[in-house]
Amino acid sequence: MSSHEYGVTMGVSTLRSKLLAVQIIVVSLALVLFFIFMEYNRYRVLEEELSERFESIADSLVAPIANSVWNYDLQTLQIALAPLSYNPGFVTAYIKDNDGDVLASYGEQQNLTSPDHISILKTLETLRFGKVKTVGTLQLIYNKSVNNEQMLKHLLIDGLILLIIAGVLLWVTTFTVQRLIGVPLQRLILSIQDAKSSNKRQQVDWSSKDEIGYLVQAYNDLQKKQIAYENDLQKSNKAKSDFIANMSHELRTPLNAIIGFSQMMTHQTFGELGDKHYEQYAIDIEKSGQHLLELINDILDISKIEAGRFKLRKSKVDLNGLIESTIQMVKPELGEKQIEITTDITANLPQLMLDQTSIKQVLLNLLSNSIKFTPNHGEIKIKAGYSNHNLMISVDDTGCGIAHEDLERVLKPFEQVGDVYHKEREGTGLGLSISNKIMELHGGTLEIESSLGVGTTVSVYFPKNHLSQVA
Ligand SMILES: Nc1ncnc2c1ncn2[C@@H]1O[C@H](COP(=O)(O)OP(=O)(O)O)[C@@H](O)[C@H]1O
Ligand SMILES: [Mg+2]
Repeated sequence: MSSHEYGVTMGVSTLRSKLLAVQIIVVSLALVLFFIFMEYNRYRVLEEELSERFESIADSLVAPIANSVWNYDLQTLQIALAPLSYNPGFVTAYIKDNDGDVLASYGEQQNLTSPDHISILKTLETLRFGKVKTVGTLQLIYNKSVNNEQMLKHLLIDGLILLIIAGVLLWVTTFTVQRLIGVPLQRLILSIQDAKSSNKRQQVDWSSKDEIGYLVQAYNDLQKKQIAYENDLQKSNKAKSDFIANMSHELRTPLNAIIGFSQMMTHQTFGELGDKHYEQYAIDIEKSGQHLLELINDILDISKIEAGRFKLRKSKVDLNGLIESTIQMVKPELGEKQIEITTDITANLPQLMLDQTSIKQVLLNLLSNSIKFTPNHGEIKIKAGYSNHNLMISVDDTGCGIAHEDLERVLKPFEQVGDVYHKEREGTGLGLSISNKIMELHGGTLEIESSLGVGTTVSVYFPKNHLSQVA
């Protein structure tokens, strides 16, 4: 898998990288502390060894030198100090008599304040006439920094070993974390991404007797339940759609008879109705029948769309003509409420590949809403043109408006709002949601802008790619 595809599991913010960061810090800190402790001890041991070596050299010199001091044999004293040159650590040596006068010396006189210079002071004693006699002192000064080179070599070797240990430790811990947590988490995330992107519900292949194992098991169980639930839902959705389709069909047949015959009665096709009341009844029957038919058609549409069975039949559509013919259909209502309608249509709009019937249904829904929710003498404006290279049609009215908090709700099926201000108006609350879904099916969008008491603008947008499909 590429890091691009599963950014979540591979990115900087993964659990693995966080754990790795903590491991690096902890392991290096522990090893560095251990290193310092070890090297300090080694340094102490080396220092002790050096001091013991020089002490024993000094001790071996004491007896012969004491003798020569007693004899005041200055030449032998000088010779006695000569072997010190074999030991590069020695820098200076003095042989002094009891008065502190220097009898012989080795090396250069030093400023002995350097912390590297260590001084060994031995009392020179000799046995004379059965008595121990102090004859002077031997002072040897050596430089302990002769150890530094050796120390550096050790530091390098130890450092290298330490680096190798750190590497192995890190690898082992990273590998373990990856095996125990990384792998199951990655599989889990893959399954979640699959479910999100393609609705495929995959079981996660992992079992371990720890929290992760428990989590994966719970996730798998939930997946199973979800699959069963979705299957049930699909079945019942299909049953619902079938029922609605059948019901609608069953209802439409008698309705057509009711509408048809009431129309004949209104027109008094086969003779007079007699009483004036009957004429009005016939008109009412027809109106109610029409309303029921619209309702049934809307319900059939929304259930088809929701079941994914609403098929678009696309053809070349001339927006100008479509708008004009829709206005014609609502002319009577416009006249009744004396609403003034104006159009603002950009010249030479291209033809679009659309499902003419359903787009006309959208326009009719928007227009009849505007008429329904606009008081007498109001104004409606229809605009068509380009907006950000997309084609747009908008219906703007001076009606009652929709409260801001209701804007989302009115797009849902059966939602009608503000019952206080238009309780008496008929409708099912399906028009906007059907229109919105038809626009979605076309790859477009529907947007509502409204201000309570001022008016409403509902706009539909057809995306750019529709323009390119124009034949
Ligand atoms: N132009 C408009 N002015 C004010 N309110 C509107 C307008 N268009 C829609 N509405 C509100 O949105 C609701 C839903 O509209 P719609 O889905 O067409 O259902 P219906 O027209 O059957 O009530 C309406 O009941 C109304 O409250
Ligand atoms: Mg409506």
